[in-house]
Amino acid sequence: MDQDTFIREELDPMVPYAPGLRASEVRKRSGKEVILKLSSNEHPCGPFPSALRAIEAVAPRLNRYPDGAGRALKLRLRKRLGVDRENLVLGNGSNELLRLIAQAVLRPGDEVVFAWPSFVVYPMVTQMFGATAVRVPLTEDDVHDLDAMLAAVTEKTRLMFLCNPNNPTGTIYHRIAFERFLERVPDHVLVVVDEAYFEFVTEEHYPDALQYFDGKRPLCSLRTFSKIYSLAGLRIGYGIVPAPLAAAIEKLREPFNVNSVAQIAAYYSLADDAEVERRKRENQEQKTYLYEGFDRLGVEYVPSEANFVYFKTDRPVEVFEALLQEGVIVRDFGNAPALRVGVGTDEDTMMTIAAFEAVAAELGVI
Ligand SMILES: Cc1ncc(COP(=O)(O)O)c(C=O)c1O
Repeated sequence: MDQDTFIREELDPMVPYAPGLRASEVRKRSGKEVILKLSSNEHPCGPFPSALRAIEAVAPRLNRYPDGAGRALKLRLRKRLGVDRENLVLGNGSNELLRLIAQAVLRPGDEVVFAWPSFVVYPMVTQMFGATAVRVPLTEDDVHDLDAMLAAVTEKTRLMFLCNPNNPTGTIYHRIAFERFLERVPDHVLVVVDEAYFEFVTEEHYPDALQYFDGKRPLCSLRTFSKIYSLAGLRIGYGIVPAPLAAAIEKLREPFNVNSVAQIAAYYSLADDAEVERRKRENQEQKTYLYEGFDRLGVEYVPSEANFVYFKTDRPVEVFEALLQEGVIVRDFGNAPALRVGVGTDEDTMMTIAAFEAVAAELGVI
């Protein structure tokens, strides 16, 4: 029998998630000893010291399953965020929550509206459950066009993803635009605000989705420990969602979807707000240096509220390759005329700018 016949046909158009190149591959290709992996928006430093100590302490008890209900971490998050027990969910990365939400609400033929370019997982979880992706282009300034997104809503729209700050552009929409949007969005649409880069934002007009969450309105906020907290390798994120959705997620998730190391590391990371502030300041400072370097080289970039910078280039394939040869891995988007580079440490920034200088000298322009 043809093996393909077992596979749901909704999966045919799907393309697996393509992770960025690994440092070891690039070391071989470029012959450079020091490789900067700036392609996945990870934090350049390791987990918080308190998290590292907790990780070591929990290791001898890994014969046990995790707390499937994540009680201690949920309690700490609830106190900090001021949300009820029935509204908080944990995920194996916020990525898992994107999928679980899609699984809980989408039926074949439903429509899902999101901006484009935005996070590549939105079209994936849409297609996975037989729904149709409706991509709404960003404005000329690379910001979510919330009016156009509303105009794209039909009776079939079931879900809308907003990415704020947006990956890959690092842009945000402002409070006024979001409030206008919330007044007008019909209530048959579940709005999921993906705030993976929330902690990096410094712009005062940024709307924290949680401030608009009342448990009644179909609104969710998703956050992660993968970025400023440096726990990407452990996979842990959380969501603030309406109670019926949280109940549905409880039915769909694996019994132990969030491992015990991730839970305890996240728990202790939350106790160190000073480190979050320090990292936020450092990120801001390094971005300023990057901008200065880009200005000098005539690189057209989009000012970012996150820990990465999107820059325009007419020669994305050549620039990507040339940066690799300099030992810097950035994110490409096929033939789209832009690339994304992560913000690193002080040393990383110096190396990044040196690599851009070398590439500009080689290609004439970026
Ligand atoms: C916008 C956005 N949302 C969600 C995620 C997923 O994060 P994680 O699954 O590591 O929590 C990412 C990761 O890069 C992201 O950029």
